[in-house]
Order: sequence, then structure tokens, then C-alpha cells
Amino acid sequence: MNHSNLNKKVYIHTFGCQMNVHDSEKIAGIFSSFGYEHTENIKDADVIIINTCGIRQKAEQKFYSELGRLKDLKDKTPHLKIAVAGCIAQQKGNALFERFPYVDFIFGPNNIDSVQNWIEDDRQKTNNHPIPPLSKRGFRTTALDDNPEYHTKHLPLKREGKGRAWVSVMYGCDNFCSYCVVPYTRGREKSRPVSDIINEIKDISKNGFKEITLLGQNVNSYGKGLSEKIDFPGLLKAIHDIYGIDRIRFVTSHPKDFSEKLIETARDLPKICEHIHLPIQAGSDKILSLMNRNYTYVKYKEKVEMLRHAIPEIAITTDIIVGFPGETDEDFQCTMNALKEIEFDGIFAFKYSKRPNTAAINLSGHINEKTKSERLSKVLDLQAEITYRKNTEFKGKTLEVLVEGVSETDKNKLTGRTRLNKVVNFYGDENHTGTLVIVKILETKQHSLFGELVQNSSS
Ligand code: SAH
Ligand code: SF4
Ligand code: F3S
Repeated sequence: MNHSNLNKKVYIHTFGCQMNVHDSEKIAGIFSSFGYEHTENIKDADVIIINTCGIRQKAEQKFYSELGRLKDLKDKTPHLKIAVAGCIAQQKGNALFERFPYVDFIFGPNNIDSVQNWIEDDRQKTNNHPIPPLSKRGFRTTALDDNPEYHTKHLPLKREGKGRAWVSVMYGCDNFCSYCVVPYTRGREKSRPVSDIINEIKDISKNGFKEITLLGQNVNSYGKGLSEKIDFPGLLKAIHDIYGIDRIRFVTSHPKDFSEKLIETARDLPKICEHIHLPIQAGSDKILSLMNRNYTYVKYKEKVEMLRHAIPEIAITTDIIVGFPGETDEDFQCTMNALKEIEFDGIFAFKYSKRPNTAAINLSGHINEKTKSERLSKVLDLQAEITYRKNTEFKGKTLEVLVEGVSETDKNKLTGRTRLNKVVNFYGDENHTGTLVIVKILETKQHSLFGELVQNSSS
């Protein structure tokens, strides 16, 4: 069938983590394969997809206000279709139809392939019948069930990154950290077959990308449940030599599964970038245990020391939750001490947020908002000093940067990242986008480095 003259447009708004961003690339890929164009202007859209995140209440709230605003647009545009995807879609399911009756389709993160059927169905219905009035549509449908073979499916992708591409290596999470909604929204952990991953990366390389990031909620447990005997270090070895790819990254690593073998593999394989995101969450053993994290502060620190010993230049970033139920001033102080002792390159810090179904909502000693906000400020202030101090060490250095494009904040500059994942801004021609260049660092700032282009890369 010739889809090229369809003349329909899809608008996709993505909330949440890298996994959701990558899921949106799959959703976009499916729409492209049906001949849809992509639009940045919501008013032009024939289909609107909101890919949702429910990790904290704030993210959920943002989605509800966006969806609320769409009612008027839907009233004015009878043929408009609205679909809700992602983690809130999975968690709330049909209940969303009650609150937002103008939603047409709800599908979860493990049912992205169902978009194909939805488009096909919709086309048949609208081809055979004139569009009925809103109240009589009755096309509303969901795709939220277990989809046991989802991790083996091949979906078209419309990649948005410049020079860098994301590759799912596993889906779901089995860890059930007591604060976290992800195991309820993304289901049980499933690893993709190695051959599928290799083929995808070969394809990425053919399309000119230089960097890949392997994605999973807990990449270190890759391989569980696969018929072939392989672990995450084994996967890294299997993909390392794919021609054309210069940089390999992976997120996220869970400290409990972060092994010596992985550290050695990262040290020995030259394409693996010197940056690890290793979420600590808290510095107090009591809180770590209540969080069901399965490591102590000492164990975490040992792993950091091992890592720094093996790869001295390594950049380490982390996630912190403040105000977890039961967190006393002393517990909070342990987190502050951890930041001082470890000196992370950067952190993402959050106030604890109650999430439905999670074990932590039933714990005693919930912390009030004011205390949470005060603790968050303290953590951010302390880290700001550390990050700034660490960034100054780069002044005068000459670093390889993968150019991502024009900087959002200053259209005269280009922006990119070093192997250590530091953001670098510099003046240069937009044609460098997607390539590796060499930049000399002249100034260091809180969240970025500024430099001058000294050389286009050899590749
Ligand atoms: N799989 C990854 C991270 C998933 S969510 C991991 O295990 O590290 C990203 C971060 O959001 C978490 O690391 C945590 O710091 C934060 N987070 C998750 N649930 C939260 C909640 N209920 N309240 C506040 N922060 C939360
Ligand atoms: Fe959530 Fe923990 Fe799984 Fe990360 S490892 S997604 S924090 S349950
Ligand atoms: Fe959000 Fe789901 Fe990612 S809850 S952080 S989009 S896994």
C-alpha cells in the first residue's frame, strides 16, 4: 500500500526518562511507516500522543493539566485522535477514560506494537464510515495486557538523537525499591536476545551514529531468562567491535549488581565511556534498607573505590531521594556526608513522592513538605560547590566532544558531550552536528564547560 500521500500528521509529547524518550522514537517510527508526518505544532495534528511518566506526583500532575487543555482542541477538531501512552497509561488504564472521555486509545510501555493495529483499525473504520459525532465514536480501546513476546519484536524507529542513538537491552524491573512505581508500570524484567541487539547496533552504525547508549532499568542484570548464557559484561564484549561506533554508554546500573567483572570490562574495552550513573538514593543504611535497595553505604563506597582504582578519570553521577519516610536529621546527615566523601560529578536529587501501590506509602514517619524542601536545597547547594570544583579541573584540557547540535540556550553556540558526559558549548558550524570534534576548554561553569574548536575529528 502506498502510504506516502496520506497527508496526516502526528504530534508526540514525551514526559519522563530516557526509556520513555526512546519509546517515543518507536511510536514515531510506527507512524512514519504508515506515512504520517511529524509536527511540532499541536494544532496541526490529526493524532496526538502523550507519552506519560508517573515517577513522582509532579510528573503526573503535569500530564493531567496537558490532557485537560486538549479537550477544547478535540471539541473543535472532530477527526482528532488522542492517545495516552507510557507509565501512567499502564497504571491508570480505563480509569483515564472516565476522567478524560475524549481520549481514544490507551496503551502501555510493553504494548507499543499495538499502535500498528490501532492505526490500521482506525483507517478501516474511517474509510468505511463518515466520522461519527464525538459522542457516538465508540472506538475507544486499550492495550495494557501482558505482551510476553514484546521484547523480541522489531519495531521501526525514528531516531531523534544527533550522532547518538539509544538501544533497549532490557525491559521492566524486578527490584521493587519500596518508593518506585516502575515495576508496576513496566512489568517484569526481560532481556532482549543478543542477536537482535547486535543487528540493531549494526543498523545504527550504518546510519552514521557514533555513540550508543544501552538502556534498561537495571542493565547489570541483563541476560536473566535468556536461553543463551550471557551477562551484561558479555553483552558489552559482544557489541564492542561493531564497526563505526566509537562510544558506548549504558544506564542505569543498580549498585547491588554492579560487579567487579563489569568494572574490569569497562576498563578493558576502549569504546566504553568513562562515566557511570550509579544511583545511591541515600547515605543512611536504615533508609537504604527501608528502600529495599540491598546494599549498605559501605558496600556502595567500596564499589566506587574499586571503580576509581580501575579507571581513575571516571565520572560518577547519582540519584538522591530526600525525605523518605522515617528519615531523621541524622539519616539526612548521612546523605550529606556521602556527597562530601564521594564527590560525585553530578547528581539528580528529588523529594520523596508517594506513589500508588508502592510499599513505602505504608511506612510510618512520612516527612512534611517543608522539611523535604529544606533538605533538597541543602543537598543541591552542597553538590553545586562540588560540581563546580570538579568542573574547574577541566580548564585548559583538550577533549573529544560528540556534537549534538545548536545549543538551546544560546543559538550561536554548538553543544555536545565529552566521554565523561560533561556538556561542552563552543562556537562552530552547525555541520559538525553528529560528529566527533576536539575542543579546548577555556572556561568552566556550574553545569557546563565552554571551549574553542581546535580540530575536526579524524572520523
Ligand atoms: N532504574 C533506575 C532509576 C529509575 S527512576 C534506578 O534504579 O536507579 C529515576 C530516579 O527517580 C530514581 O533513581 C530515584 O532517585 C527517583 N525516584 C523514583 N521514585 C521516586 C519517588 N517515589 N519519589 C522521589 N524520587 C523517586
Ligand atoms: Fe525503580 Fe528500583 Fe527498579 Fe530503579 S531499580 S526502576 S528505582 S524499582
Ligand atoms: Fe517515568 Fe516510567 Fe521512566 S514512570 S521515569 S517514564 S520508567
